[in-house]
Amino acid sequence: MIHGRDGTRLRPRPGGSSIGAMSLFRTKSIEQSIAETEEPEHQLKRELSARDLMVFGVGVIIGTGIFVLTGQEAHQHAGPAIVISFLIAGAVCALAALCYAEFAATVPVAGSAYTFSYATLGEFVAWIIGWDLLLELALGAAVVARGWSGYLQELLELPTQVAGDQAVVDVAAIAIVVLLSFLVIAGTKLSSSVTSVFVLIKVSVVLFVVVAGLFYVKAANYRPFIPDAEPAELAKGADQPLLQAVFGMAPTAFGVMGIVAAASVVFFSYIGFDVVATTAEETKNPQRDVPRGILGSLIICTVLYMAVSFVITGMLNYSDDRMNTGAPLAEAFSANGIEWAANLISLGAVAGMTTTILVLLLGQSRILFAMCRDGLLPRQLAKVHPKYGTPHRITIITTVFVAILAGFVPLAELSHLVSIGTLFAFVLVSAGVLILRRTRPDLERAFRVPAAPLVAGGSILTCIWLMLNLSLLTWERFAIWMVLGVVIYAAYGRRHARLGQSSSTL
Ligand code: ALA
Repeated sequence: MIHGRDGTRLRPRPGGSSIGAMSLFRTKSIEQSIAETEEPEHQLKRELSARDLMVFGVGVIIGTGIFVLTGQEAHQHAGPAIVISFLIAGAVCALAALCYAEFAATVPVAGSAYTFSYATLGEFVAWIIGWDLLLELALGAAVVARGWSGYLQELLELPTQVAGDQAVVDVAAIAIVVLLSFLVIAGTKLSSSVTSVFVLIKVSVVLFVVVAGLFYVKAANYRPFIPDAEPAELAKGADQPLLQAVFGMAPTAFGVMGIVAAASVVFFSYIGFDVVATTAEETKNPQRDVPRGILGSLIICTVLYMAVSFVITGMLNYSDDRMNTGAPLAEAFSANGIEWAANLISLGAVAGMTTTILVLLLGQSRILFAMCRDGLLPRQLAKVHPKYGTPHRITIITTVFVAILAGFVPLAELSHLVSIGTLFAFVLVSAGVLILRRTRPDLERAFRVPAAPLVAGGSILTCIWLMLNLSLLTWERFAIWMVLGVVIYAAYGRRHARLGQSSSTL
C-alpha cells in the first residue's frame, strides 16, 4: 500500500494498457506520481511558502518583455491601447493559470505540465510536452541570457567582443548561466532568497518608472487612444503569420485587430508564471500555496505591466520613432530631459533578467528531473544531491546545454519559438484539466477552476489563436523540434519508461 505525504493511504491505480501501441497512451496514476516523491533518493526538500512562490513568479515573469516590447508594440500595432493588449495577454494567461493552479494543487509533483499530462493524456503526450518545455525553459533561459548580456554590455560599457549582440562568443551570457546554476544546485530556498533581492530591485525600478513617469504624462499623447486601423506591412514567405499564410487574413496595424496582434507579441512578457508549478513538490503546503503563488504573481505583473505601458505612452507619443527601439522606457525619460533614468532602468532590466534566467533554469531542471525519475530519460540523472537536496546532475547538464546555446548561437529570432512552446503547453494543460475532471471526478481538488468548461475551453481556444499569429518559420522550427522529440522517445523513452516496467510491481 502506498502512503501519501500526509500519511493517507493511497490505492495504486496502474495506468492504461502497456501493450503495443496502447503503451503510448498509458497513464501514470496521480497516486503513483505522489508516492514516488517519497523515495529517499529522489526526494526534494519541502521548504517554500506562498510568498516564496510569488517572488519566484514575479522573478521569472518580469524580464525582457516589459523593457523592450512595450514601446515597440505601441509604435507598430496598438498605440496607447497597448495597455489593453497587456490586459488581453494577461487574461489569456489567467485562464491557463487557473488550470495550472488546479493541476498543481491536485498533483503536487515536480514536473508541472509534464506530470499533469502523464496523469491524464498518457505517456506519449507527457513526453511531447516535456520535450516541448525545453523550448520555454532552456531556450527561454538562453534567449534572456543573451539579452542580459546586451544590457550589461551597455551599462558597464564592456568590450563588444565578449558581451552583447556583436559578440562571437558571448562570454557574459555563459558566465551568468553558470553562476546562476550554482545557486540552483545550492538549494531552492537559497535561489528564492537571491531572487527576492533582485525582485525588489526590479519592482522598485518598475515602480519608479510608473510614479516618476506620471509627472511627465501629457494627455495629448493619449489622443487617439485607439488609432484608426491601417493595413500593416505584409510579411512575406516564412515570416508571415500562419493565420495569413493559411487563411489569407491580412494583418492590420492599430484598430481593434492591432490591439490583438500586439497582445500576441507581448504575451512573451508573461511567460514564466507556469514555472511556479514546477516547484510544487518543494512547497510546504502546495494545495494552498501553489494556486496563490501562480495567480498572485500573475495579477501583480499584469497590474505593473498595464501601469508601465500607460505611463510610457503618456510620456512619449506612440508614433515617435524612439518608441521603436530596444530601450523605449529609457527613451521616454530621455525625451523628457531625464537622462540619468536610463542607467537606472538598465539596472532594473539586468536585475529583472537575472531572476528570469535563474527561475527558468530551476524550472527546467525540475522537469527533466521528473522525466528522468520516470525513466523517459536516464534514471541515474534524477539522483538528488545528498547535502543540498536538489537534482544536481540534471542541473549541470541543463547548464551546459543552455550555456552553449547562449554563448554561441544568436538567439534573438528564436524568442517566438519560446512563445509557441509555452502556448502549446498551456493548451495541453487546459485540456488535461477537463479530461481529469471526467476520468477522476473522485480526486480531492484543493483548488478548482471555476466554470471549468468555459475557462479551460477558453484557455485552449485563445492560446491556439495566439499560436496562429506566429510566423510560418516559427511553426516549421517547432515542427522539426517536435519530430526530433518523437524520434528520441521511440528510441529511448518508450523502452525505458518506469511505468512500463513497474505497473505490475506496485
Ligand atoms: N517573461 C519573461 C520576459 O519577459 C520571459 O523576459
